[in-house]
Amino acid sequence: MDKKFYITTPIYYPSDNLHIGHTYCTVAADCVKRFKKMQGYDVFFTTGTDEHGQKIQEKAKDSGMEPKAYVDKIVSNIKKLWNTLDIDYDSFIRSTDEVHEKNVQNIFQKLYDKGDIYKGEYEGYYCTPCESFWTEAQLGEGHTCPDCGRETHLTHEESYFFRLSKYKDKLLELYENNPEFIEPAFRKNEMIKSFFETGEGLEDLSVSRSTFDWGVKVPFDEKHVVYVWIDALSCYLTALGLGTDDDKMDEFWPADVHFVGKEIMRFHVIIWPALLMALDLPLPKKVFGHGWILFDNDKMSKSKGNVIYPEPIIKLYGVDALKYFLLREFSFGSDGSFNIEKFMQRLNSDLANDLGNLLSRTVSMVKKYNDGKLIDMGVTEDVDNELKDMAVSTVDEVEKAMEHYHFSIALEAIWKLIRRTNKYVDETEPWKLAKDEDSKDRLNTVLYNLAESLRIVSILIHPFIKNTSVEIRKQLGLEDEVNWEDSRVFGLIEDRTTVLKGDVIFPRLDIEKEIERFNEENEALLKSRLGDNSNKDEDLDTKEEVTIDDLDKLDIRVAKVVEVLDHPNADRLYVLKLKIGNSNRQIVTNLKSKYSKEDLIGKKILVLVNLKPIKIRGVESVGMLLAAEDESGEISIASTLEDIKEGAKIC
Ligand code: ME8
Ligand code: MG
Repeated sequence: MDKKFYITTPIYYPSDNLHIGHTYCTVAADCVKRFKKMQGYDVFFTTGTDEHGQKIQEKAKDSGMEPKAYVDKIVSNIKKLWNTLDIDYDSFIRSTDEVHEKNVQNIFQKLYDKGDIYKGEYEGYYCTPCESFWTEAQLGEGHTCPDCGRETHLTHEESYFFRLSKYKDKLLELYENNPEFIEPAFRKNEMIKSFFETGEGLEDLSVSRSTFDWGVKVPFDEKHVVYVWIDALSCYLTALGLGTDDDKMDEFWPADVHFVGKEIMRFHVIIWPALLMALDLPLPKKVFGHGWILFDNDKMSKSKGNVIYPEPIIKLYGVDALKYFLLREFSFGSDGSFNIEKFMQRLNSDLANDLGNLLSRTVSMVKKYNDGKLIDMGVTEDVDNELKDMAVSTVDEVEKAMEHYHFSIALEAIWKLIRRTNKYVDETEPWKLAKDEDSKDRLNTVLYNLAESLRIVSILIHPFIKNTSVEIRKQLGLEDEVNWEDSRVFGLIEDRTTVLKGDVIFPRLDIEKEIERFNEENEALLKSRLGDNSNKDEDLDTKEEVTIDDLDKLDIRVAKVVEVLDHPNADRLYVLKLKIGNSNRQIVTNLKSKYSKEDLIGKKILVLVNLKPIKIRGVESVGMLLAAEDESGEISIASTLEDIKEGAKIC
């Protein structure tokens, strides 16, 4: 086969489990792979994980794990997710794969030998969550990261630099001569404006770090690790067999398209082509910067923790419902908001009503009126032509939309046909035809046309929602295998094909009830990820449940013990003089058997300060100190973990 196609998703950070933003890009790339394959291309599809860098090292440390062990666990979840979603990737590259690390070292060495990498001193602002350097001029207000708005920190260190500035003109030429290189086109202006026309132009890029060590070592200077973006971008080459299988590199490089989120466009349209130029390798044909899925109008992001995970959605509503929603609801180049209610509404209207209904009506009628047999009796009427014309021309619309990765427009074209077919049922009224023996041939023709339209739909939706395509074909009595070209012809179902009544493909949802079910499933997922023993009341035997308002009534403060006196009238009691903020307090307590005066003086303890004052053996006590006591009667005074100013409130 000589039609080749190479497509990639970003190589995701396994710093946390992936959410529906990552799922979105991967599902889109998978759809393109299936679409291109059906069009006769030999496709190679790469995804993977970007496992080095400071962020992952810190995350792992916070969890008390080695970085590799930490990412192993998440990578296994990611692979499980892609497996559940039936993502048909050809390579899952991990940047910690040995062959990749070797490739990164070779690339670095090659650029150094060539003089495109040199040693210098770096000063700049680093955003750890984004693994990005910024110059002062690029920073937002208060030295924040212009991408994510979080704080950056100033770093100063010896570093190797890549001569990015040397490639400025060549890059501009690239954009100029290849208008299709950056898509959507409006991103091109964003890129050029922000990096060439403002600030100091294109500066050389710091490409090594020496302040942490979780990365690929610079081959000739082991104090340094290679900048994680050089490491990550090169994954696109290792995945194709760079260093192991030159044939595959020759076959599939350059990439036909890199799918990336808009926030990492600049790495892919500036640094990546410049690196490839320096390596004398051909440049990718296109970088497509897709939009963000927002949640409450903010970018959903692992590091912000405002994410929706795909697993509960898949578990409750299936793989195809999620894929359909992601590809239909959002326009690939633009941002859009995720909302579970919107998801359910679309499921009800497009999948249950439009498509599900059409299938179940058609199959039921064929069963009821003609013993399950499809036979074209050739009794046509004008209204048939309109349906047929639309059915065989939808493929052109789908192809046109897919040329520019307009998934949503492609699906809308298919749904136009589905809705037109439903209308055809209303127009032809098969139930009326069934009442009259003379209309039997017309009835069969109508039913055949319905099945034909559904057959064409089953081909067109195949790259988007394969399971549904297979199910529709099963119910129509057709083979699973689809041939794209068969969507251009009306009348391919063989006479006497027998339909098979199956399950309803998308049951209608009671949205209010489902939102509750979804929330429960979501909670169950979070719980299982935290370990499922997080809240088990084995023998805790708690007191009556209270609300936060009850707790709010108690005023508990940090108090400093300034003096400890013996109670003048009771051998076993102390009188404690306390300082709480600028106030003084006196309380009577019975801890004499456990604590000496020296044990207590100067210590900070917790005191309930709004307890009704009482007199104990004639001495006033205003408040009560808090202490813990176990079953055996062992006692320990409660205090705070770190030192904090007296008067501080317990909240
Ligand atoms: O950037 N909406 O990895 P990453 C839509 N390792 N897409 C989203 C999204 C959202 N809210 N959140 C994430 C990295 N994505 C680097 C890439 S490539 C050589 C190295 C998708 O885990 C989107 O495609 O932060 C985005 O670009 C990608 O996940 C970033 O994933
Ligand atoms: Mg990111």
